[in-house]
Amino acid sequence: MTEDGHGKQGANAEPTARILVVDDSPDILDIARQWLEMEGYTVEPVGSGKEAVARSKSGGYDLVITDLAMPEMGGMEVLAHFAEHYPNTMVIILTGFGTIETAVEAIKKGAFDYLTKPFRGDQIIHSVKKALEIKRLKTENLMLQSVVNEYHTLERIIGRSKAMQAVFRILSRVAKTDSTILIMGESGTGKELIANAIHEMSDRSKGPFIPINCGAIPEELLEAEVFGHEKGAFTGAIRERMGRFELAHQGTIFLDEIGEMSLRLQVKLLRFLQERQIVRVGGNRTIAVDVRILAATNKNLEQAVAAGEFREDLYYRLNVIPVTAPPLREREGDVVVLVNHFLRRHCAKYDMPVKTFSREALAALEHYDWPGNVRELENILERLVLLTEEEQIRLGHLPARIRSQAGNEPVIEVELGDQGIDLKQTLSDLEDRLILDALKRTDGVKNKAAELLGLKRTTLIEKMKKKQMVYADEGD
Ligand SMILES: Nc1ncnc2c1ncn2[C@@H]1O[C@H](COP(=O)(O)OP(=O)(O)OP(=O)(O)O)[C@@H](O)[C@H]1O
Ligand SMILES: [Mg+2]
Repeated sequence: MTEDGHGKQGANAEPTARILVVDDSPDILDIARQWLEMEGYTVEPVGSGKEAVARSKSGGYDLVITDLAMPEMGGMEVLAHFAEHYPNTMVIILTGFGTIETAVEAIKKGAFDYLTKPFRGDQIIHSVKKALEIKRLKTENLMLQSVVNEYHTLERIIGRSKAMQAVFRILSRVAKTDSTILIMGESGTGKELIANAIHEMSDRSKGPFIPINCGAIPEELLEAEVFGHEKGAFTGAIRERMGRFELAHQGTIFLDEIGEMSLRLQVKLLRFLQERQIVRVGGNRTIAVDVRILAATNKNLEQAVAAGEFREDLYYRLNVIPVTAPPLREREGDVVVLVNHFLRRHCAKYDMPVKTFSREALAALEHYDWPGNVRELENILERLVLLTEEEQIRLGHLPARIRSQAGNEPVIEVELGDQGIDLKQTLSDLEDRLILDALKRTDGVKNKAAELLGLKRTTLIEKMKKKQMVYADEGD
């Protein structure tokens, strides 16, 4: 036993815990207080439910121990009050023999435990200790959970490059605010993924995330889709309907491809951004909506503004915090990490052992300029996983557009080096490269290619078959 600041035995368990005891019997209050103070807890006894509720406003109770049957306000009401306003406060119920059923009901409503009167000192202390321990674990777990959530959310966005690290830093800083964010970047760079991550890292993560693709919905329908409509607003509007803004209340709305929005709707959106309320199509009442706005575009909006296609005032309203998803060709080192990521994911998805890449094939992927960015890489990986029968994916398996960019490099240089070399592999890579080179030079005419390689045409075809090379047809 320690002699700590309180000078009391057993105070090490939860020495600073504050406990509110509620009972209309002064005797019970006295006994409970004696036992608990001996354990080092801070105890505040009150004689009625009303007083308990009044005291609760001072906040910070770790635990409430309340009698069930009290005049005016009973224990169930005290429990309901704390469950609603102070969900982190634990509640233990005291009950006489006649009210055990109610006590069980109280547990269902969120009380941690109940004690039947008369109780012994060790019983109440045991229950209190357990309650405080659970509370501590819950708090720890919550904190851990939010750290883990942020970690996992950003974790889903793969990127080791400086360019992506810079994006992550911005995201961690701005996600929690309510600011409007404009996400820019070429197609397939992960703008939607970023929007999702922002929502999940924000305090709105429990609310809805509602995307709306302004480019995919015809102009006539978009307005009703965004703002909703009243019954009879137009032919076919047989019922009133909530728009996406209303659906996103207390959450996040993601306006994807904002650059595609018509000038007419841009005016309406601007009005919303100023007033934070909407009017449904065909209606006149205003509805206040609490949403955080994220927008994305692969257009250069400044150019669109200059061309008169996008309102300048709206552009400034949306571009409060700009986040740019860099194109894959500018993310140094990311291709390899992404290849690994998607390789694992797709192999797992199709229940296959994880394949490998030959050095040459990987180099070709790194070299390619990825006009379709991460989406293109993801699609190619999925296809390679599905279509390559061999365990190793080699240059010849790659789509022609990737091979042809790689083809400009000098023929591989081979060195034994300190690490040694996989001879079979290297020779096979070299063979791939030379065959592809020959096919390229002869525009895919196999007779001539075979000639260049000093092979019989049938031998070349056989090799290509074995290597699963498709040349004439692009294969993608
Ligand atoms: N950094 C990344 N890590 C992992 N997956 C990614 C990454 N970036 C994009 N992806 C994946 O690539 C695909 C395309 O991403 P997303 O839809 O977010 O791109 P986008 O920028 O919205 O494209 P578009 O402009 O064509 O709509 C998605 O399947 C997404 O999960
Ligand atoms: Mg998108």
